[in-house]
Amino acid sequence: MKFFIDTANLSEINEANELGILDGVTTNPSLMAKEGISGEEEVNEHYIKICNLVNGDISAEVISTNFEGMIIEGQKLAKLHENIVVKVPMIKDGVKAIKWFSDKGIRTNCTLVFSPGQAILAAKAGADYVSPFVGRIDDITWDGMELISQISDIYTTQGYHTEILAASIRTPKHIVESAELGADVITAPLKSILGLLNHPLTDIGLAKFLADHEKVSKS
Ligand code: G3P
Repeated sequence: MKFFIDTANLSEINEANELGILDGVTTNPSLMAKEGISGEEEVNEHYIKICNLVNGDISAEVISTNFEGMIIEGQKLAKLHENIVVKVPMIKDGVKAIKWFSDKGIRTNCTLVFSPGQAILAAKAGADYVSPFVGRIDDITWDGMELISQISDIYTTQGYHTEILAASIRTPKHIVESAELGADVITAPLKSILGLLNHPLTDIGLAKFLADHEKVSKS
């Protein structure tokens, strides 16, 4: 399973990258806004900075909601760097745009996916990645992980090649469950990725090892 970080914050991207386990980055307009990045030029420059930091797929989202606009924006984004994957929302024009990009060899990530039906459409249109938002489904007391499981079963049964990118990850548990259920990729905030490190028995065990070593060195 690939690990992407879900942020536009360069120092967080660096920290995850330095762990050596980072395979890519996802961003969205909200994450860009959180960093105070705005305007086409500034946004594009920021994508290039991210591409230069991380050797992996970098999702860059279109703002347009009509087919023509998405095509213009997506082509510009794809030209910024070979690792850019154009992120397109799961709406009618988005499906058309994904098919168009796919035919032209421009890679896409279909975002804002909340149902198995939407995931089937994304795969049929030729999306490289489909992004089910597990945390936002949990937020409305449905089961985000159930969606990962359903999409995984459908894609296996149908032989679709679209990669399942579990998004809106909020906890280390979401990451572990995504791995169990067959997600190809998770994208998570740094906090959730680092949360995988934690276990009290590791801390207790390490403290004991070091204390025992210290006892002998002093004797
Ligand atoms: O990858 C999608 C993600 O950025 C949405 O996460 O936490 O805003 O639901 P969240």
